[in-house]
Order: sequence, then structure tokens, then C-alpha cells
Amino acid sequence: MSKRVAIFLSGGGSNMRSLVASMTGDHPARPALVLSNRSDAGGIAWAAGQGIATEVVDHRPHGADRAAFEAEIEARLVPYGIDIICLAGFMRVLTAGFVTPWQGRMINIHPSLLPNYRGLHTHVRALEAGEHEAGCTVHEVTAELDEGPVLGQARVPVLAGDTPDALAARVLEQEHILYPAVLRRFAAGNRTPLYLP
Ligand code: GRF
Repeated sequence: MSKRVAIFLSGGGSNMRSLVASMTGDHPARPALVLSNRSDAGGIAWAAGQGIATEVVDHRPHGADRAAFEAEIEARLVPYGIDIICLAGFMRVLTAGFVTPWQGRMINIHPSLLPNYRGLHTHVRALEAGEHEAGCTVHEVTAELDEGPVLGQARVPVLAGDTPDALAARVLEQEHILYPAVLRRFAAGNRTPLYLP
């Protein structure tokens, strides 16, 4: 039976779109839900247009009460029988209370070669540091931010005159290749890291 995948996002969801596009044919998983903390996330409108179930859980009414926000997400997931969560530009930190029960079944994409440049503004920081190489990482999600076993990485060169936007676009192209490739393996039970190109 196909694995049922929930994709969490906060923005346009280009990674979500590449994941959805990949889950056809003999792929071991299918998209069951797209969930966002923002009702205006472009990815939510796109997913709904594709006939994929969507849920919006606004974090703002919960204020600093992360446990209440996470309990609401957990409650929304139940009816969908989710097997795997893919974080794809979900801009809320999830605490151990949510992450630990999902550990081993939740993955994330981060736009850097982890363990370098955890957190935000990775491309600005990589350029400021004079890196010659950048990239992206798919990893299992653990309670520590942007940690957890690496499932795959793709590398791109940093070019002379690169701006953060130019570098981000080059990395994003690789994200759209790496994330579907890793999800396919992960859904089939293969956690051996994949290194591209
Ligand atoms: C990507 O760069 C991803 O690596 C990061 O957030 C961004 C999401 O972009 N976690 P998109 O919404 O998938 O286009």
C-alpha cells in the first residue's frame, strides 16, 4: 500500500510541487495532505487546485504556546492517516513534543550543506564567508533545529559575482531534484544518504 505523505509549507511551495509531481506511477507514496500555518501561502491554493486535501493551522492565535499550536496540527493530521511528513519551507520551529513521536517518519529540506549554516539566511552567510560551494540537504527531523541524520545532499558552485538571490535560485533547482529523489528512497525504507550530482 502507498505511504500517505503530508507536506508542510509556509510559502509558495515549489518544493511541495516537485514532491507532488514525483509521486505517481510506481512511486511508493502519494500526497495525502498539504498543511500550512498561513492561509495565504501560495502552495495551499495550488494544492487545493490540484484536488489535494489542505489544512491551515494559524500559529498566531496560540501566541507563544507552541504546544497548543502543535496539538492542533496533530489533531488535523489524524483523519488523513499520515505515514510521512515532509517539511518544505515550513517556517515554524517544531518542538520535541511534536517531533519526537514523528521521528523516523519526518524529513526536511534545508538550503545549505549541513552541518554548515543551520537556521535562516543561509545564502547570505555562505557568500559572506567566501564559500566556493553551496547546496542543499534533506535530513530526518529531530528535536534540534536542522540536525538529524542526512538523507541526501546536492552541491552547486558559488560563482563570481553571485548575489544571495542568484545563489538561492541555483540551489533551489537542485532542491527540486534532490527532495523527490530522497523521498522516493525514504518511502521505500532506504535511508542511505544520496549525494548529487
Ligand atoms: C527552500 O529553500 C527550502 O530549502 C527552505 O525553504 C524554501 C522553501 O521554498 N526550507 P519553496 O516554498 O519550496 O519554494
